[in-house]
Amino acid sequence: MLDERNIPKHVAIIMDGNGRWAQKNNTTRLAGHNAGMRAMKEIVKSSSAWGVEHLTVYAFSTENWKRSVEEVSGIFKLIVIYVDKELKELHKNNVKVNILGDYSKLPKESVERLEKALGTTKNNTGLQFNIALNYGSRDEITKAVRLISEKVKNGEFTPEQITEEMIGQHLYTGGLFHNIPDPDLIIRTSGERRLSNYLLWQSAYSEFAFPDVLWPDFSPAEYMKIMEEYQSRDRRFGGR
Ligand code: FPP
Repeated sequence: MLDERNIPKHVAIIMDGNGRWAQKNNTTRLAGHNAGMRAMKEIVKSSSAWGVEHLTVYAFSTENWKRSVEEVSGIFKLIVIYVDKELKELHKNNVKVNILGDYSKLPKESVERLEKALGTTKNNTGLQFNIALNYGSRDEITKAVRLISEKVKNGEFTPEQITEEMIGQHLYTGGLFHNIPDPDLIIRTSGERRLSNYLLWQSAYSEFAFPDVLWPDFSPAEYMKIMEEYQSRDRRFGGR
């Protein structure tokens, strides 16, 4: 049973293990990503039902371009399929879609669907479903440094006036873009224990969970187990 007063405001997920799931099930990597998309759908539903305010998923990293052309274009195609199939339901459930990352580099068809999802859900007030796409934390921090440097150059403030808050504001999650709080809980499936360039600045005080299950097998029941375990933790944010 979940304690309603202690639901993490922001859960961030690294959906890892689609490829291994595919191998285990004797199918193609793309079929693995498709199964991953189905798992993601269920986790969005649970997050919304449990009152999580922000769910951020790592759908495509700045490093994922190194994969084969077939796999990369297959993932982008899945985005089109996902929006076509799910946008109505997301909107009905008051879910707001946000994108973290420079999605303009994706194929035109994917960009169009993403913009449709952003436009349709922009005034929704329920779960904020943040999709990290062509996202990398170092790239995000580099862009923030550039933006701040420009402002210093223009005389808006001096280097001494730069604060941690200001840096946070200039990240994709920051007030200048989306105003997403730092993640309370970061989940990476498939037993890997790395951040892989995900939310490096924002994860300073996050709790971590590393379930062994491969992403396509990550069910609401597995998610519930992690939420219960999270609720039993004592978070001190560097204090006592
Ligand atoms: C990691 O597994 C997964 C990805 C890089 C892609 C995640 C994409 C989806 C779940 C598709 C749906 C997304 C949207 C927004 C519609 P992996 O391929 O690295 O697995 P492996 O480590 O076992 O090879």
